[in-house]
Amino acid sequence: MDFVRVGKTADFEGKRFRRYTILARKVAVFREPDGSFYAIEFACKHQNWDLSTGRIGGDLVTCPRHGWVYNIRTGACLRHDSKRLRRYAVKVEGDDIHLSVRPVEDADDAPADEEEWPIFGDG
Ligand code: FES
Repeated sequence: MDFVRVGKTADFEGKRFRRYTILARKVAVFREPDGSFYAIEFACKHQNWDLSTGRIGGDLVTCPRHGWVYNIRTGACLRHDSKRLRRYAVKVEGDDIHLSVRPVEDADDAPADEEEWPIFGDG
């Protein structure tokens, strides 16, 4: 799995998430209270709207355009079972945050078991 450096852990001071663009795809990196990170595609599956402009409450984000709701941890769309935001692997090395170039689901070495999906943190 290939990774690309996108930012620094210090970029998250006072922020729950930051949005990056990886290969023209909008991806949000979230920081957990314990200092670990996870990443998820952040463009609505309906009309590609930027979900960082949506309302985030708990583990849910609501697209401001037509109200589709997603679980930001699993990527599941609560409106349409067949639609899912793709997840990216996050690797923290020192102060640098790296994201997988491709979504985990697309990677050749993606784990079959959901429990084994790579989420790394320096927590
Ligand atoms: S663009 Fe997100 S619900 Fe329509």
